[in-house]
Amino acid sequence: MSVREEFDEWAASGRDRGMEDRHWHTAKHALARMPVESGDVVLDLGCGSGYAGRALRDTKGAGRVYGLDGAPEMARNAAEYTEDPTVGFLVGDFDELPFADDSIDHVWSMESFYYAADPEHTLEEIARVLRPGGTFYCAVNYYEENVHSHEWQEFISIEMTRWDRDRYREAFREAGLHVAEQDNIPDREITIPTEAEFPTDDWDTREEMVERYREFGTLLTVGVAP
Ligand SMILES: C[S@@+](CC[C@H](N)C(=O)[O-])C[C@H]1O[C@@H](n2cnc3c(N)ncnc32)[C@H](O)[C@@H]1O
Repeated sequence: MSVREEFDEWAASGRDRGMEDRHWHTAKHALARMPVESGDVVLDLGCGSGYAGRALRDTKGAGRVYGLDGAPEMARNAAEYTEDPTVGFLVGDFDELPFADDSIDHVWSMESFYYAADPEHTLEEIARVLRPGGTFYCAVNYYEENVHSHEWQEFISIEMTRWDRDRYREAFREAGLHVAEQDNIPDREITIPTEAEFPTDDWDTREEMVERYREFGTLLTVGVAP
């Protein structure tokens, strides 16, 4: 199944908004750290519902926001969720970013990067489009140390890349980006039932659920273009 087939279906069934609600718990903390200044051009890779771009416009005054997604239904929904003419959405693939060299101030990506067919090349593309000093904020919940995420591949037809923390930093550097920061952002908002309520449909023990959300949370790796 292609990215388009898989994620068009997610968009059509409302999962774009569901992801927005869940991802916002940690994404908002990472977005708040982005050094976006008034007027900056921002690119959201794998934008889903487009919430990140909307937030960067509203909170930081980004001048122009592009949300790129490989699923046309995702991009169409995202465009419907805003009337802001400075936030635009386009259909494209991480493999070839339709932007000129040094044309983007900051790139954001949440829970999307690991779907890239060739993630090393995608990093090169990001390094190419970023202006000197521009940043790439890469947030993922699916990564090697998060053992609770490993089974996700069974439920999705697109091959996912499961790097560990070191590999993220190494790959950023291979693409020519400096690594400015790497951090785990805990999800402190998801409700964790009391001990007596376990096992639940999704979790055998409370301990595992606490580890997944409060400890592992979202892995954020920040690259800076030289
Ligand atoms: C799990 S969703 C995350 C959406 C959003 N960033 C969020 O935080 O809710 C992943 C998104 O990346 C998009 N995507 C996956 N692979 C892609 C690729 N190779 N090129 C462009 N978009 C891709 C999907 O269509 C989907 O909308």
